[in-house]
Amino acid sequence: MTKFEQIQQELSQEPKTWLVTGVAGFIGSNLLEKLLKLNQKVVGLDNFATGHQYNLDEVKGKVSGDKWENFTFIEGDIRNYQDCEKALTGVDYVLHQAALGSVPRSIADPITTNAANITGFINMLTAAKEQGVKSFTYAASSSTYGDHPALPKVEENIGNPLSPYAVTKYVNELYASVFAKTYGFKAIGLRYFNVFGPRQDPNGAYAAVIPKWTAAMINGEDVFVNGDGETSRDFCFIDNVVEMNILAATANDDSKDEVYNVAVGDRTTLNELYGAINSALTENNITVQGELIYRDFRAGDVRHSQANVSKAKSKLGYLGTYRIQEGISIAMPWYIGFVRK
Ligand SMILES: NC(=O)c1ccc[n+]([C@@H]2O[C@H](COP(=O)([O-])OP(=O)(O)OC[C@H]3O[C@@H](n4cnc5c(N)ncnc54)[C@H](O)[C@@H]3O)[C@@H](O)[C@H]2O)c1
Repeated sequence: MTKFEQIQQELSQEPKTWLVTGVAGFIGSNLLEKLLKLNQKVVGLDNFATGHQYNLDEVKGKVSGDKWENFTFIEGDIRNYQDCEKALTGVDYVLHQAALGSVPRSIADPITTNAANITGFINMLTAAKEQGVKSFTYAASSSTYGDHPALPKVEENIGNPLSPYAVTKYVNELYASVFAKTYGFKAIGLRYFNVFGPRQDPNGAYAAVIPKWTAAMINGEDVFVNGDGETSRDFCFIDNVVEMNILAATANDDSKDEVYNVAVGDRTTLNELYGAINSALTENNITVQGELIYRDFRAGDVRHSQANVSKAKSKLGYLGTYRIQEGISIAMPWYIGFVRK
């Protein structure tokens, strides 16, 4: 039995109460779905800044009625300390996902990104410490590697941030580390690398590349690549991220006050990504009609990204078995359903 299977069994036998912030978003709603299926009690906090009620409705449709009863939703804002306190009442494990994602959004409006990602973070961290929760796991980011040239990325070698967003995610790590030193409150940071999967928003100016391209390709539109298409990423399917959050939340004390890469350890160029989406669409009898159009590189983007995931594997028993092509194939029916709705 794997570590993850063992933990799932223990949780099902002895359910806990979890707080998922950003629960109406992409990663948050996938965490919610998994936890409810494991019979856990879940409190969700979201202000719908980028999340959607329809994500919650979709989860409701995927879990049985009695399991949905274990979910309490609080519409609130992490920038407001009282909302954080309220959401934390009676909570064992915190999975803090709420933030404003997107490098270009942070370049266009650094103040709003700062408020959600730094003020919101310190509010949650402080309220969780005061509440005395069993663990606090938060969404960090691979953007923290900034301009450090080494590949693959190992947790201890970071460079200078390249965007306001990257600054905010690095500040989260600094606060978490200082909270461990000064209050003995040990959080775990998960540096996600380009996560993708069902319920990732394909719409809007700040959509991530996989849902944005897939939706455009389903609609027969052209897709635009920033740069020469040789920019590369370690695309990580959502199920790997869900696994990692549950492993981190239930980890023992020795594994806390740490950050971990969450990815696969692969490197896929944007040109290869286009091919991977294309072949998953072909499997679903969709012929791509638009073209791949090259345009200028985008400010703030890192050129290459690839994780070393040894630390998560050795310290937490992370497997991260879903690779990009499998993840895209699993997610494709969702994209098609979403676009054609
Ligand atoms: N998706 C990725 O590839 C990726 C990569 C690295 C890090 N992350 C981080 O993972 C987390 C989740 O990202 P996601 O992809 O699910 O994004 P998302 O936009 O789908 O989800 C974020 C959720 O947080 C909510 N939120 C934002 N500001 C809030 C506030 N002030 N109060 C309450 N709720 C608020 C939004 O409404 C949304 O539902 C974020 O912290 C993000 O920075 C994501």
